[in-house]
Amino acid sequence: METTTTNTDVVVIKDLHKDYYLGGEVITALDGVSLTVPSGAFVAIMGASGSGKTTLMHLIGGLDLPTQGAITVNEKAVDRLTDQERTLFRRRHLGIVFQTFNLLPTLTALENVMLPLLVDGRSAADARRRAEELLKTVNLEHRLKHRPDLMSGGEQQRVAIARALMNEPVLILADEPTGNLDPTASHQIWKLLRDLSCNTGTTVLMVTHESTAASYADCVHFIKAGRFTGTVEPKGCGDAALVANRYAELAD
Ligand SMILES: Nc1ncnc2c1ncn2[C@@H]1O[C@H](COP(=O)(O)OP(=O)(O)O)[C@@H](O)[C@H]1O
Ligand SMILES: [Mg+2]
Repeated sequence: METTTTNTDVVVIKDLHKDYYLGGEVITALDGVSLTVPSGAFVAIMGASGSGKTTLMHLIGGLDLPTQGAITVNEKAVDRLTDQERTLFRRRHLGIVFQTFNLLPTLTALENVMLPLLVDGRSAADARRRAEELLKTVNLEHRLKHRPDLMSGGEQQRVAIARALMNEPVLILADEPTGNLDPTASHQIWKLLRDLSCNTGTTVLMVTHESTAASYADCVHFIKAGRFTGTVEPKGCGDAALVANRYAELAD
C-alpha cells in the first residue's frame, strides 16, 4: 500500500514482515504491511482472529522484532533499539491497553494508576495528583480506593486506560480493549478512546475484530492474512454497518 509520510505522523511502518518459526514450520503473521498514523488520530485495524493484529501491536510496542521492514514511533526507529532501550521507550512514551486489563489485584484503582510514574522515580505526591485527575477523566473519581475485584470489567478497563495515560504517551496501543466487556461498557470505552483523540490530541491505535469498535475510529485499515486489504473512514461516527459493509465488499 502506498503511504504518505508527514512529520506529524506518530507511527510510520514500511513493508513489515513477521515470520514465526514453530517446529520446522514457518508461519507468516505479517506479509508486507505499511501504515502511517497521524498525530492525534484514532486509527483502527480490523481483521479476523489470526490475521496478524496482535503481532503488529507487539512490533509497534517494541515487544518483538520484525523479520523485515521498518517501524518508526515518534521518529524513533523502534526495531533498531536494544532490548533495554525498547523497554525504556515503551515505559516512557507508550500507553498499552490489553483485553485482560492487567491491573495488579492487591492495589487500589488509584495505586494501579500511580504505578507508572512511581516506577519512573517520580514523587508520590505528583503521581497521586495526576492519577486522581486521570481517574476523573475516565469518570471513576468515586472508585479511587476500590481494588480490581470490587470493580466491573468496564471500570477496570477505564482504570487501565487512566494508567496508560499516566506518562503522557505519544501513542496509546489498544489490543481488543473491549473483548471481555458487555455492549454498554464497550461503548463507553470506544467513546472514551474517541474523546481522548478528539479532545486531548492523544494518538490512539486500536486493533479489533468488531465493526462496531472500528466505527468509532477516524480511519479503519482492514487486515487479512497479514496484509492490508483496504480502508474506510467512519470519522468516529459509530456506524458499524458502514464498516461492516466495506469489510464484506473487500472480502468478495
Ligand atoms: N509466538 C508465535 N509463534 C508462532 N505463531 C504465532 C505466534 N504468535 C502468533 N502466531 C500466529 O501468527 C498469526 C497471527 O497471529 P496474531 O497476530 O495473534 O493474530 P490476531 O491478533 O489477529 O488474532 C496466527 O496464525 C498465529 O497463530
Ligand atoms: Mg490478537
